[in-house]
Amino acid sequence: MERIWKNNKMSYGGDYNPEQWDEATWAEDMRLFKLAHIDTVTLNVFSWATLQPSEDEYDFSKLDKIMEMVKANGLKVVLATSTAAHPAWMAKRYPEILRTEFNGMRRKFGGRHNSCPNSPVYRKYSVRLADKLAERYKNYDNIIAWHISNEYSGECYCDLCEKAFQGWLKDKYKTIDELNRAWDTSFWSHTFYDWDEVVLPNMLSEHFGYEYTMFQGITIDYRRFSSDSMLECYKLEYDAVKKHTPDIPVTTNLMEFYKLLDYQKWAKYMDFVSWDSYPDTKATPAAMALNHELMRGLKQGKPFVLMEQTPSVTNWQPYNALKRPGVMRLWSYQAVAHGADAVMFFQMRRSIGACEKYHGAVIDHAGHENTRVFRELAALGAELDKIGDKTLGTREKAECAIVFDWDNWWGIEYSAGPSRIMRYRDEVQNYYNAFHEYNIPVDIISVEDDLSQYKIVCTPILYMVKSGVDERLRQFVKNGGTLVTTFVSGYVDEHDLVTVGGYPGKLRDILGIWVEECDALPEGKKNSFVWEDIKYDADLICDLLHTEGAEALAVYEEDFYKGMPVITRNSFGQGKAYYVATRSTAEFYKRFVELVCEEQDVKGVLETPEGLEATARYSEDKKYLFLLNHAEDTKSFIADANYYDILKEVSVKAGEEVEVAAKDVRILESV
Ligand code: GLA
Ligand code: ZN
Repeated sequence: MERIWKNNKMSYGGDYNPEQWDEATWAEDMRLFKLAHIDTVTLNVFSWATLQPSEDEYDFSKLDKIMEMVKANGLKVVLATSTAAHPAWMAKRYPEILRTEFNGMRRKFGGRHNSCPNSPVYRKYSVRLADKLAERYKNYDNIIAWHISNEYSGECYCDLCEKAFQGWLKDKYKTIDELNRAWDTSFWSHTFYDWDEVVLPNMLSEHFGYEYTMFQGITIDYRRFSSDSMLECYKLEYDAVKKHTPDIPVTTNLMEFYKLLDYQKWAKYMDFVSWDSYPDTKATPAAMALNHELMRGLKQGKPFVLMEQTPSVTNWQPYNALKRPGVMRLWSYQAVAHGADAVMFFQMRRSIGACEKYHGAVIDHAGHENTRVFRELAALGAELDKIGDKTLGTREKAECAIVFDWDNWWGIEYSAGPSRIMRYRDEVQNYYNAFHEYNIPVDIISVEDDLSQYKIVCTPILYMVKSGVDERLRQFVKNGGTLVTTFVSGYVDEHDLVTVGGYPGKLRDILGIWVEECDALPEGKKNSFVWEDIKYDADLICDLLHTEGAEALAVYEEDFYKGMPVITRNSFGQGKAYYVATRSTAEFYKRFVELVCEEQDVKGVLETPEGLEATARYSEDKKYLFLLNHAEDTKSFIADANYYDILKEVSVKAGEEVEVAAKDVRILESV
């Protein structure tokens, strides 16, 4: 199986900032890391100002010492390039590196993630730093990855970005006529005669609120451009480190469904995916699982690295609840269950100043090992040692996929009409939840990914059908696949220009329907439908549609469109295409997903009671079944085969009732 690293176990450790401490403390850290079974540290994430005291001066003396110390202590290193926060002197000397906000406000020095991605000065010095770091440390054989910058995020609306945007548009559209066509600029007298007439879409121009734009085409292109601008910064640093260390894999830490960066495009330039998981206190196990699925899907199912999570508590939420006993372990294994091959944290030692001093850490302010959190971390570390390399490189096997697409995200949520409360990720989550309840593995894929390995593909709110996408879906259904799509699908092309002739545009023949109108219901207002003798709610959106070959499985019960179809099924080639014209309740999604899975003979990895999550990862010859009890009480399941529990070190017989205590985890290896 393809692995991220040639390790003999899952990497365990995380962000370590010894530069904030004296050397006596470093020695104590080394002792404590050993106790916690920590073997990997992410170094140098925010040290640019220390490494480069002035324009021509670099000082690596402290980092040299740190690198030597961690090597001497047998630790592996994820080495960051430190370019996510520029030095104050640089901002003073070159104010052009500072970002301009959406409202046009030019920032001063402060915070982090504060550099304009299109500033030549920022690019020059960030790449130079990456280059120097790689050159200097290239012979350290304990560097297992490069960590470029940190959590790329935000955006910039400065004059440099505006110029760069004009250039980006010229590359994309070639002629100004094509730009005018793509943006439909005959609307509201927007015809452009020269590239330099185009301005950035923000509060000074096309917007009347962050998500309210008067020209969707311009705003969506700005989103693409902004994601590309930061990706370009990443790629420049990538090339700089690869030049010296071609064999060290390169990554940057992503953040779940982050709207401003098209991670599916980014992942193509990452040697492996890594991400930071900070679920808020209300996150359900299925919501956390969906984030992991997205990360796994970015590289077509390859394992990823859980680069950060908090051992106990965050600092940036309104209420920073503690992770209850067992929860850090449970959530760590949940990541592994969904494809992680490393378990890492932010941060190793709690800092004493600024905004992260109350963020959880392996080593607390108390400074010793006699804390609940440390004991839990050390116990998990010992377990990971015991698991060794068994699960590394193993893969889940999914027959179902849900499509997620950043262009659609932007298209749907910048749209003026039909509804401002329609959220793309929420509808993806609604479908995912149903699969998750049955422990049915799902890949989160892009519109470009190969569909041939799937039996069921869901494309919730496929509003934007980019060129080629309809044909791939058509072939998929023709060849026997089941397509599920929903309300507000097939409206526009990649330029957000409507496909005329009736919705759902290019999907019409596949679905065998024609959508004539779309009713957006205010929050709290509902329609309903009866399906298989059960009454379900319809809310948010009610499409008014006519069948053109499809059969209606249920009809609306109320309003002037009472009797019109709400769920349809079309036989197309060897397969079927479903259209769900409204949003409904969890009970509906559950039954609906059950039906399509029954039709396609798709089964979950195991039957479990509510709250007990199950996934399976496979090597060439072994299966690893993960049981994760998110509930507050003991749950049990019936073993479907003979296994060996690699954590508890006991055998499990087929047909046996197996218990999983509250918040506990079992990992069963096939025998
Ligand atoms: C992010 C960052 C870290 C730290 C944590 C705190 O993930 O990458 O530097 O700020 O958040 O939760
Ligand atoms: Zn800028």
